[in-house]
Amino acid sequence: MFTKYNILKFKYILFILIFVTLSLPANAELSVEEIIKGRKALFSKNYSTAKRVQTFSSKGEFEKAKSLMIEMSENYKTLIDYFPDNTKEGFKTEALPIIWENKDEFNALMTKSSNDMIKLTSLIEDTEGVDEVRAVLTKMMWGNCKACHSKFRAPH
Ligand code: HEC
Repeated sequence: MFTKYNILKFKYILFILIFVTLSLPANAELSVEEIIKGRKALFSKNYSTAKRVQTFSSKGEFEKAKSLMIEMSENYKTLIDYFPDNTKEGFKTEALPIIWENKDEFNALMTKSSNDMIKLTSLIEDTEGVDEVRAVLTKMMWGNCKACHSKFRAPH
């Protein structure tokens, strides 16, 4: 029977269901192995994409370079969720424990790297010649890899 009480109860259950679904992190169902291997794969992907950004930019093919920059920016945002507390060790991770001691700093670097890729999409337009391209990519792209690795990734 659709009494007022039943409808209220139904709404209540629906609310709980929606709330639980939304509050679960996107990767909650992934195992530790999947998360560690997943982030390694994402970093490797970004590395090969970064090299393609460099190639296209040097040739003045900015439109192609720009869509890859946006792809990298999105990957950085995704990566923030790939360092939950239970993934500090195992599966040949090179992630250092200091990540979890300075999580805010680590996440801020990841966000900066993501934002810099977006800034790069307009900065690249103003470059003239290979030297300027190299300089702006060093500052806005490669510099961020180095800044993070030197503190948060094990020497390899
Ligand atoms: C905010 C931090 C951060 C930034 C920015 C960052 N990395 Fe990393 N990177 C890491 C960490 C941490 C690992 C170790 C992950 C693991 O082994 O679990 C890593 C691992 C890697 C790996 C090894 C993946 C594997 O298969 O083991 C490559 C390659 C890599 N990064 C390339 C890059 C490049 C290229 C950039 C810049 C374009 C970059 N990273 C930017 C933190 C960062």
